[in-house]
Amino acid sequence: MKKAIIIYGAPVKQSRVKGITDTLGEELKTAGFETEVLYPQDLPADKLLYADFANPEIQDAVRRVEQADVVVVATPIYKASFSGFVKVFLDMIPQKGLEGKVVLPVAVGGTLAHMLVLDYAIRPVVAALANSHTLQGVFALDQWIERREDGGYTLTPELEERVRAAVGQLALAAL
Ligand SMILES: Cc1cc2nc3c(=O)[nH]c(=O)nc-3n(C[C@H](O)[C@H](O)[C@H](O)COP(=O)(O)O)c2cc1C
Repeated sequence: MKKAIIIYGAPVKQSRVKGITDTLGEELKTAGFETEVLYPQDLPADKLLYADFANPEIQDAVRRVEQADVVVVATPIYKASFSGFVKVFLDMIPQKGLEGKVVLPVAVGGTLAHMLVLDYAIRPVVAALANSHTLQGVFALDQWIERREDGGYTLTPELEERVRAAVGQLALAAL
């Protein structure tokens, strides 16, 4: 069974980023992927910040990425780029750590002006990790993701459709 890992890059668990990663996770499972979510925020933040490659929890997280066929990098947009958690975690991945994988960048931001973060910020970092198959990615404005009272999220139908289409592309690319 093919493996997918979703790197959840928001510093809080209840970010609207979760609205997309929840849907992505379900769709990936439906498409037949063994799917897990990795939370860099649960790793020791000081060890990440100081790039402690010997830390066992960080090593285990990096191993989980290495074992995946599909890697989703999901982030809120902060200051026209990806979050600090995404940066410090990706810094721990070996130089060719994303070689041979299919990568889907996902970003949630407050303004359409920053939707190209997918291309000018995330894509070069993923390419630096030897990835040659980065999909177009999914950008969402935060207002397209509604927080429900039950703690879940409702995506606009258009966004939901784009998430589904992205999983279709992932499934084809990871064959
Ligand atoms: C510190 C900070 C910086 C932000 N910078 C940007 C930005 O430069 N561009 C943008 O589109 N949105 C920016 N936002 C908005 C967030 O990307 C957006 O609200 C978030 O993805 C969804 O909010 P939530 O995590 O609170 O649900 C910023 C938010 C914070 C907290």
